[in-house]
Amino acid sequence: METMVQSTFEFEKFSSLPVENVQTLAAKNLKNIPSRYIRPEFESDMVSAEESLQIPVIDMSKLDHDDEQTKLHFACKDWGFFQLINHGIPYELIEQMKADAREFFHLPSEERMACAQITGHIEGYGQVFVISDEQKLDWSDMLFLFGLPVQLRDTRFWPANPPSFRATLDKYTMELHKVMIQLMKLIAKNLGMDPETLLSLFENEIQAIKMNHYPPCAEASKVLGASPHSDSSALTILLHANEVEGLQIKRNQKWVPVKPIPGAFTVNIGDVIEIMSNGEYKSVLHRAVVNGDKERLSIAAFHNQKLGTQVGPFVKTNKPLYKTIPVEEFRRWKMTSKQDGKFMIRKMEL
Ligand code: OGA
Ligand code: NI
Repeated sequence: METMVQSTFEFEKFSSLPVENVQTLAAKNLKNIPSRYIRPEFESDMVSAEESLQIPVIDMSKLDHDDEQTKLHFACKDWGFFQLINHGIPYELIEQMKADAREFFHLPSEERMACAQITGHIEGYGQVFVISDEQKLDWSDMLFLFGLPVQLRDTRFWPANPPSFRATLDKYTMELHKVMIQLMKLIAKNLGMDPETLLSLFENEIQAIKMNHYPPCAEASKVLGASPHSDSSALTILLHANEVEGLQIKRNQKWVPVKPIPGAFTVNIGDVIEIMSNGEYKSVLHRAVVNGDKERLSIAAFHNQKLGTQVGPFVKTNKPLYKTIPVEEFRRWKMTSKQDGKFMIRKMEL
């Protein structure tokens, strides 16, 4: 049964409408940015200036202690976001991943286009979630690839240049998988779920890698690199791949800029964990802003449950707040919509 669902669900059926490459557009040094990128609706949004207001920091090397586990619980419950330090992923691997991503985005346009999305495919270099010709656009390009399971990888879209890219990403996806499993075990414990039941969904996770490239923009304050959204994943593990900041999370009606700690990952609860926890953990709205004169790079890894399973409240409750539906249906909704706040949660609420 499970394998049948797996083989009939074709991720590649979902694709975005083709739009201009933002890096090429940015290189034209236009004085006025095309209106499809201008976002007056967000210009009056308040950004918090409180320097001390920062997402919690979780020390993975201390997570066998109750204190740190409690800290993790409150980070997931109260913030939905945290920075993870001492995660054990080798420094050299992370640096190589950053360097390979940077090198890919710095290739001449024709070489980058060797990995361009093909109509009918979601993977590759391009954009996602563009579903209409009127829709406003984000000031970013991305390379979207399935990392795990290995059978889902379509190497046509995996850069052959730089030559180390594929081997680095292969190792990187495996290391992230281990970190995700460790975190899931503790999330299950903290939520009073059976860890084995939860882990059975994620041992064979579907891990999607989204490398985001935000070119500098002459009208940086008028555009957005990533529209406000929550992630539809269970858990997202994000690497700030160069020194430029840009991630902001919504807290108490204001946008709070994340100040990345060198070597740390930014982890956030996605819609699926919000739903599984029956709302105890929150999938928090976030966005990315762009810089006036520097490019920004980030690598998001979205960890999703295996196919053939259900999305719904997992904690014992006699008052479920969300629907329970097949994960395939959940993914289909996400991939055929534009990024629009917490729309997946709205669809799932009872
Ligand atoms: C994403 C995302 C933020 C960033 O890719 O879903 O939220 O900092 N990215 O690039
Ligand atoms: Ni996101």
